[in-house]
Amino acid sequence: MDVLAPLKPAELFSAKGLVVVITGGGSGIGLAIASALYQNDAAKVYILGRRLNVLQDAIHKLGSSPSAPPKSSTSTLHAISCDVTDLSSVQVAVSQIESETGYVDVLINNAGVIGPRSGPEIYKAETIHQLRDAMVTGYDEWTPTLAINTQAVIGVSASFLPLLEAANTRRGYAPGKVTGTGNPRAHDKSKLKDIGADADDDRLAHIITVASVASHMRWVSAGLAYNASKSAALHLGKMMSTFLAEWGVRSNIVCPGPYPSEMTQGKPPTYGTGQIPQGRMGSVNDVAGLFLFLVGKGGAYVNGTTQVTDGGRTGVFPATY
Ligand SMILES: NC(=O)c1ccc[n+]([C@@H]2O[C@H](COP(=O)([O-])OP(=O)(O)OC[C@H]3O[C@@H](n4cnc5c(N)ncnc54)[C@H](OP(=O)(O)O)[C@@H]3O)[C@@H](O)[C@H]2O)c1
Repeated sequence: MDVLAPLKPAELFSAKGLVVVITGGGSGIGLAIASALYQNDAAKVYILGRRLNVLQDAIHKLGSSPSAPPKSSTSTLHAISCDVTDLSSVQVAVSQIESETGYVDVLINNAGVIGPRSGPEIYKAETIHQLRDAMVTGYDEWTPTLAINTQAVIGVSASFLPLLEAANTRRGYAPGKVTGTGNPRAHDKSKLKDIGADADDDRLAHIITVASVASHMRWVSAGLAYNASKSAALHLGKMMSTFLAEWGVRSNIVCPGPYPSEMTQGKPPTYGTGQIPQGRMGSVNDVAGLFLFLVGKGGAYVNGTTQVTDGGRTGVFPATY
């Protein structure tokens, strides 16, 4: 380990040259991630969601902001209308990105919905019959909630695997399955120079899944379906890290506490220490700091982890973390 090597934050925590796909990138946390990557030299950021107008407005907003980089937003930011629960819709997005770019360095599974809000009803119940009814509040909404928050993590990740592998090949890694001990994936580092990457940049392609503090919470915040779907999303992110190891694709999970977004509209910006020790919702700095670390050169050795960004919330509620 050469401790005298130059260590520059702008190089360690940067999206420079990356092609990134963010599902649910038109609002809330996904838009904050897109902003951080766009402002920090990403080559292309594809934001996916069902509402094309929301995605296009988001691109306009980022591109016309004083913090926008000199490069035009329309050469970096791209909107693709896509329903993450529909494999054929996801494949249309994959095909578009394949023809425009040919590879994806980082896929961020961020799309999500809150689902049926059984939490308040459960804690309001005064009789066993009220509790019975509260537990099945919005019962029919479980299926779409699990489809978006959980199942789509696998559908979208699987669909993008060939483009994630193409990113590795572009960086000089041998493609395909590499098994066994004492047998690292072959890496032709001369390819890094060809693509303008640093010689010490050994990042492998990366899937990041946005789960939630709800993944760990025993307390029913929004609803039973939300916590269950997010717990499962987190576990799938860990399972992917294990079964994708032989394929050269990393997988990490981010668990946010409350952040401002469409999903949390109307929630208070400040909290007591018994709710969030930091006293507030998450901010764009909190998103940018974490994601630039995870996608940057300084995050290359991070794989199979859960990153909690919750101001300490998980520590003050009954939780499994
Ligand atoms: N904000 C928080 O406090 C918080 C806390 C913990 C975890 N999270 C997680 O963070 C992620 C982002 O949520 P957010 O809070 O930023 O909420 P948000 O503003 O509502 O964003 C969710 C995004 O997901 C997209 N989406 C939903 N269903 C989709 C589908 N079937 N196909 C494609 N896109 C879909 C939505 O766009 P369309 O409706 O246009 O499709 C929307 O842009 C979610 O996974 C959420 O569970 C949020």
